Amino acid sequence: MMSCAVSYDEPTVARCLNTDEENELRSLLDDRVQFDVPMRRYTTLAVGGPADAVAMPHNIEALGKLFAWIQERKIPWLVVGAGSNLLVRDGGIRGVVIALTPYFKGITASEDDAGRPKLVAKAGTRLQSLCRYTIDRGWGDMTFALGIPASVGGALAMNAGAAQSCMANVLGTITVLWPTGQVRRIHRRDIDFGYRRMCLPAIDGVSDSQSGIIVEGTFHLKRVDSQLLVKKGIEIKKDRKLRQPTGVSSAGCFFKNPVTGPSAGELIDKAGLKGKQVGGAIISPHHANFIINRKNARAADVLALAKCVQARVADHFGVRLEPEVVIAGDSHYAPKSV
Ligand code: EPU
Repeated sequence: MMSCAVSYDEPTVARCLNTDEENELRSLLDDRVQFDVPMRRYTTLAVGGPADAVAMPHNIEALGKLFAWIQERKIPWLVVGAGSNLLVRDGGIRGVVIALTPYFKGITASEDDAGRPKLVAKAGTRLQSLCRYTIDRGWGDMTFALGIPASVGGALAMNAGAAQSCMANVLGTITVLWPTGQVRRIHRRDIDFGYRRMCLPAIDGVSDSQSGIIVEGTFHLKRVDSQLLVKKGIEIKKDRKLRQPTGVSSAGCFFKNPVTGPSAGELIDKAGLKGKQVGGAIISPHHANFIINRKNARAADVLALAKCVQARVADHFGVRLEPEVVIAGDSHYAPKSV
């Protein structure tokens, strides 16, 4: 997902789609579109109200047509990947959600000029599929991503990572569909990557990185001892299971780690918040930087809990924690009037 904005402030309610627009969408996407879709189905935290429409383009042509139509009609849009770093408010999302994981996926392999394995993965490909693909072939550098429940596009947009590495370290180029309709390939060296963030350079005078859609990434890897790779993979998964809750509904770590000093998890833990609950949302007793949807939580429960964490950590340690998850949508549902 391209959007990096994290704010508790509710955006201005924009508009709903009218019946003509819904019909146009059906025809543009050969019926690969659904309306009034609860966003809890598209997020690992499993909260969030309905999106006006979820569009599921299956190739670059369909995505291009959809994006051109969205620009022309000035319809708000949001790209979702695996929805693993996304919190949608209870009122849902006005406009079109573009979901790439259902159809827009695939991996192709070749060799680069230096004879190293080169992979091209479409944005909707699961990062786990990409990881497994490299491990099965004895290609190193991608193991860090084992267990990160993202899509390739989402992982690039957030520069997903773990202690060992991050997406920026394995990337060659990102291909982006720009609002002008052009498909641009951007080299790693021209992209500004940071801790859990990525910013594309200005193209055609458009500088806002939220204006384009990542369609694929190219990765350059190296050949390594495949047995060592398998062993490393097992260790990473074991370590993750030991440290983090698994098999629960969450958005991973909720807050970014502060630039210096103890991690967000340690601060929340030391503030005595493990097990703290609001409605159906709870701070994981396993890892304090995970907010879990334990039982039918609403987005409002999660947000109230997150605010409580921020206030308590600021009070105890003078540190302002910033959400890592992207927060989107409206607090209240705006009924249709078409
Ligand atoms: N800690 C506590 N209490 C807790 C949790 C952690 O005291 O409840 C302490 C740990 O003992 C350790 C320190 O905090 O000394 C750091 O904890 P951990 O090793 O679990 O790493 P983290 O900084 O909390 C980061 C990423 C994770 C990534 C892990 C492993 C962030 C916000 N989190 O977690 O990424 O999986 O390293 O590499 O950068 C995510 O981004 O969603 C995510 C889960």
